[in-house]
Amino acid sequence: MNSIAALRIPERILMGPGPSNAPPSVLAAMSRPLVGHLDPAFVAMMEEIKAMLRQVFITRNEMTFPVSGTGSAGMEFCFVNLLEPGDEAVIGVNGVFGQRMADVAARCGATVIKVEAEWGRIIEPDAIATALAKATRPKLVAIVHAETSTGALTPVEEISRLTHQAGAMLVLDTVTSLGGCPVRIDDWQVDAVYSGTQKCLSCPPGLSPVSLSERAMQSVRARTHRVQSWYLDVSLLASYWGDGQRVYHHTAPISMNYALHESLRLLLEEGLENRWARHERHHRALHAGLAMLGLSIVSQTGHQLWQLNAVGVPAGVDEAVVRARLLNEFGIEVGAGLGPLKGKIWRVGLMGHTSSLDNVRTLLAALGQILGDAGQRVNVQDALAAATAAAAVD
Ligand SMILES: Cc1ncc(COP(=O)(O)O)c(C=O)c1O
Repeated sequence: MNSIAALRIPERILMGPGPSNAPPSVLAAMSRPLVGHLDPAFVAMMEEIKAMLRQVFITRNEMTFPVSGTGSAGMEFCFVNLLEPGDEAVIGVNGVFGQRMADVAARCGATVIKVEAEWGRIIEPDAIATALAKATRPKLVAIVHAETSTGALTPVEEISRLTHQAGAMLVLDTVTSLGGCPVRIDDWQVDAVYSGTQKCLSCPPGLSPVSLSERAMQSVRARTHRVQSWYLDVSLLASYWGDGQRVYHHTAPISMNYALHESLRLLLEEGLENRWARHERHHRALHAGLAMLGLSIVSQTGHQLWQLNAVGVPAGVDEAVVRARLLNEFGIEVGAGLGPLKGKIWRVGLMGHTSSLDNVRTLLAALGQILGDAGQRVNVQDALAAATAAAAVD
């Protein structure tokens, strides 16, 4: 066999739908020495991770910990534990991840009632109310808070009120929202929530923070069928991540937990509200700069995500060519549109560590040059000035 060269990975500015760039101290944390997963040092660190996750989710839920797996594992964790065959699940579908939730819920044997909205728009409370009225005994309602495939942020509070009024539990996907905009699990009475490390927490992909309310735990205890997934059964995981005597369940990814610990520490050092404000500020800067390049954010006005911007591709421009030039000539990754938005949008992430004015300006300059080369009339200096001015407003 020919010898294989040592790994060479380029430096990128990760302005796509995730992963975002991780700060140097998060990457450095992953290179710390390994210890055993039942080592007292690791066990102490698990406790700190749980405590920090409660602060970030703004919850007192006892059952709050990172599932070993990416965001999709957190999604499966919530559904396999809460749903039994024959249960009714009302699921908001306004993009890829709502569709995935519906698929996962159906695989649990649930009867899925989809509440669909056009991609780019939010799930409206009225549509949830209509679906709940059609259901016989809805077990849960699930929505994606920040739909990464479209850039829309669905407000939670009214949907939560309707859900509980109907006697159901609320499941919330916060993979892209956590750490990038307000997420208030206890105030919003969310029963089951999952997230991911690779977006606004600015940690590599690999863990999925989750939290279950006491009500969700009661429903798990009242199950009549065993949870079909051994790996994701919360009752088994509780003896590993819970407070008492730790019992071996699986071997937690040690280095990933180091990275999560450091990324949560950095987040809390910055302060949740400051972090949200930083995301809002740089979204505003991007919006202002794009306008000067003749571009706009196309998701529903008033509900646009700060951390994931759906930028409309101008007529006559080949979006894939622009994306390839951004990556190959400028080292910038942006995402393509998916499903009905394929070819129509670029998905520009400003998540966690990536959300900076420098990155916004670098992208605007690169995009301006590429669009100018393609014959579009653009003034890059005006775009940079507009972005800087917008970021300076409090
Ligand atoms: C809203 C949302 N939910 C779930 C997922 C799935 O997460 P992962 O790809 O980490 O498994 C993603 C990933 O992009 C997401 O954006």
